[in-house]
Amino acid sequence: MQIQSLSIQNFRNLQPLRLHFSPQLNIIYGDNAAGKTSILESLFILGHGRSFRTSRHSKLIHHEQDSFTLYGELNAYNVLHRLGIQRFRNNDVKMRLDQEPLTKLSDLVALAPIQVLAPEHYELLTKGPSGRRKLLDWGVFHVEHSFLKRWQSCHRLILQRNKLLKTSRNYQELSVWDQQLVPLSEQVSHYRQQYIDLLTPLFKQIAGKFLPEVKLSLAFYQGWQGNDLAALLKEQYNKDKRLGYTQSTIQKADIKIMSGKKLAADYLSRGQQKLVTTALKLAQLSLAQQRGQQYPVFLLDDIGAELDEKHQRMLLDFLAQQPENQQIFITCVHLDPLKSLLNRYNNAKLFHVEHGAVTAIEASK
Ligand SMILES: Nc1ncnc2c1ncn2[C@@H]1O[C@H](COP(=O)(O)OP(=O)(O)OP(=O)(O)O)[C@@H](O)[C@H]1O
Ligand SMILES: [Mg+2]
Repeated sequence: MQIQSLSIQNFRNLQPLRLHFSPQLNIIYGDNAAGKTSILESLFILGHGRSFRTSRHSKLIHHEQDSFTLYGELNAYNVLHRLGIQRFRNNDVKMRLDQEPLTKLSDLVALAPIQVLAPEHYELLTKGPSGRRKLLDWGVFHVEHSFLKRWQSCHRLILQRNKLLKTSRNYQELSVWDQQLVPLSEQVSHYRQQYIDLLTPLFKQIAGKFLPEVKLSLAFYQGWQGNDLAALLKEQYNKDKRLGYTQSTIQKADIKIMSGKKLAADYLSRGQQKLVTTALKLAQLSLAQQRGQQYPVFLLDDIGAELDEKHQRMLLDFLAQQPENQQIFITCVHLDPLKSLLNRYNNAKLFHVEHGAVTAIEASK
């Protein structure tokens, strides 16, 4: 997938603008607080309907305005789609795809795979499992669209089960729910496990380049121990009832990132952790490419942050070897380290951001 152009109105500090992008490499540079991340954020919204920096949509709207509007032209499977998103302060949203109202966010996510790596994600290893689970589920969904329906049904059933737990007098009253919940949970787990199995060799390969000194691997935790979820739910009924929620569910799943036999998060430096997260996201990109899925657009915010020169070069070398049609957006404060990457592309585009205004610069060599 490629984003061909984007119009932005009343978004963060950005002045109204319309940008035409390269189908391959786009570099956005400028001083701190110029508006670089805001541009990536608006691109991300085209594929997710939300920001990667905040869950409060009102923060995205320019201080003095009532709504923001994004209008993107997307090339998906060689078909041009026109996507409009308008978000209001009262949280209303209007989305239109090719002149038709778009009501299901999952249709948007399926159409426009967009992956982001930003300083917000460098704590992926040390924070709780929800970020890792999101990363996993995003990948699984793009491999297997039917995953979402099962995932949603599972979540609905867990919610109902938790409600029922409070009023129930014995396990029998819950067993009908569990007869539905168990096979669905197992399916969701199966998809997740399959995805980890596909991702692992690519992750090891990329992580091996960036961090040859550490032996990294991925382990999947499905959210409960053992293979008999039905027995576990029955066995844990009394404790679940006391707690007021179900302990063993797909909502507890996690990707454990291991360094040998230990959790990588406990031992790696911040820079190493950033490289692991980078390897994980690049592995997802490689997997999509390998499987002939739509190539996710890759957004890389603040490429220089926390990496020494050697590791930044490794990352740039990796990006320079991406296949044609892999669209990449990079933001940076200092352009110099990126010049060699720019030189490897004939059609790269360069944008300078200053106080919310964007100028397209001729990418001269
Ligand atoms: N809703 C808003 N309305 C107006 N301005 C905003 C809004 N939200 C954020 N800003 C301002 O937008 C500016 C640009 O922020 P952004 O994070 O895009 O900068 P940046 O170029 O990525 O900077 P850095 O290099 O420090 O990461 C900041 O000065 C911020 O205070
Ligand atoms: Mg920024």
